[in-house]
Amino acid sequence: MTRIITIDGPSGSGKGTISRLLARRLGWHMLDSGALYRVLALAAGRAGIDPDRAAELADLARNLNLEFSGEKILLDGEDVSRLIRTESCGNAASKVAAVPEVRAALLDWQRACAKEPGLVADGRDMGTVVFPRADVKIFLTASPEERALRRYKQLKEKGLDANLSNLVAEIRERDDRDRNRSVAPLKAPAAALEVESTALSIDEVLEQVLEQVKKTFPDLQIPECD
Ligand code: C5P
Repeated sequence: MTRIITIDGPSGSGKGTISRLLARRLGWHMLDSGALYRVLALAAGRAGIDPDRAAELADLARNLNLEFSGEKILLDGEDVSRLIRTESCGNAASKVAAVPEVRAALLDWQRACAKEPGLVADGRDMGTVVFPRADVKIFLTASPEERALRRYKQLKEKGLDANLSNLVAEIRERDDRDRNRSVAPLKAPAAALEVESTALSIDEVLEQVLEQVKKTFPDLQIPECD
């Protein structure tokens, strides 16, 4: 069985950063499942398919010509890495992600990412639905205000437009939709290590996660740092 670490949590909790650092440190594969829903939302927008047209969306999901190439994400060969990181794309993603047929259509693709030597999977339902038998499950949270502030800084660094009070409102709205949808709602998996990161640095979060990884895999060789 391939070793799997899942990192779930709400938008802006730092899952992406921690997952990337952890995967790099361990030399494992990484699944950014949010990117999958973001690309689908982009493709649906381009094809003029609304979130209420479930069958067409699921069809589109099954036939996505998607490739993760290093840091780049290619849709039909086009680099959409930057395009999918906007807040509007994140919001559109959370609408298509609430469609049960879409989630079912993307399950096999996600599970096929579990390859040797191991996988770090980042998302909302990695430990609950996609990889319920994962070896290590982390649930990462932070206050909505702190998450909005982190997102604000990220967007600014990327040269994208951002407004802090709009971000807080959007994060709350997205949390609400992700937590209250009928399929695969955002929630802490049973037996997950919950890390509340509002007052923690990235290094401190990574340290807590690594402690858990070492406990679970005592024989795993983990390089001290990059
Ligand atoms: O993590 P990220 O912000 O990129 O995710 C965008 C949206 O995709 C989330 O708000 C959520 O609705 C959806 N998503 C999901 N399940 C996942 C990952 C993301 O529903 N495993």
